[in-house]
Amino acid sequence: MDVARIRNDFPVLSKEIGGKLPIYFDSACQTLRPKQVVGAIDEYYESFPACAGRSVHKMATEVSLRCDQVRARVADFLGAETPTEIAFLKNTTEGLNTVIFGSSLRKGDEVVTTDYEHNSLHVPVVQAANSLGIRQKIVHSSTDDTFDLELYEQNMSKRVKLVAMCLTSNVTGYTLPAREVVDIAHSYGAKVLFDAAQTAPSQKIDVSDIGVDYLACSAHKMCGPSGVGIFFVRSDLSE
Ligand SMILES: Cc1ncc(COP(=O)(O)O)c(C=O)c1O
Repeated sequence: MDVARIRNDFPVLSKEIGGKLPIYFDSACQTLRPKQVVGAIDEYYESFPACAGRSVHKMATEVSLRCDQVRARVADFLGAETPTEIAFLKNTTEGLNTVIFGSSLRKGDEVVTTDYEHNSLHVPVVQAANSLGIRQKIVHSSTDDTFDLELYEQNMSKRVKLVAMCLTSNVTGYTLPAREVVDIAHSYGAKVLFDAAQTAPSQKIDVSDIGVDYLACSAHKMCGPSGVGIFFVRSDLSE
């Protein structure tokens, strides 16, 4: 690995702000942005600062085409069947809220989570419990901090409408057995939402292979711009 060449891609590493930044270890929160990303953002503001999918002039057409291209690339990156399964939101948090408050959960429905959720998922589930009357069931991890599939299945019933879980923990880095979790949820008729904020930057995800219904992650944890969330929703559920 050519570290010097990689460092060169990140303008902030050569800046003197109270001394040079020798190293950066906070990428799980937010990565640094390489000059290619900063340049692409500058290019937008300098060359075609228009709205995608609305106006029909030259600049807007350029933005629309680029949005279509990036949607297709993100679909490929996540293994989605079609680019129309990808929407861009503000961040992971907005994707999680969209499902928790947008999938017609009603009083008495159950939502199953883990005991290591990030606040982005835990808080909206608690809010939905208070405002909609749903019930949150928490699957406790095994003593070695791995996911307890047996305990998970004991929490499942036909009352569970949504399994909403952190795919990769921001605390331990552990990734739960996605396919098994989805298969068990589907066998009870429940939908599955994965918080993939820490998975997408660190490992391959194939949403079609896993069979997950909804998945959310953020560009700012993958060298991308702030304010761009990636939201996957299976075609038959997007309405
Ligand atoms: C596991 C996990 N989920 C969700 C989030 C929230 O991401 P965002 O702030 O991009 O919505 C984070 C951010 O640290 C995270 O680590």
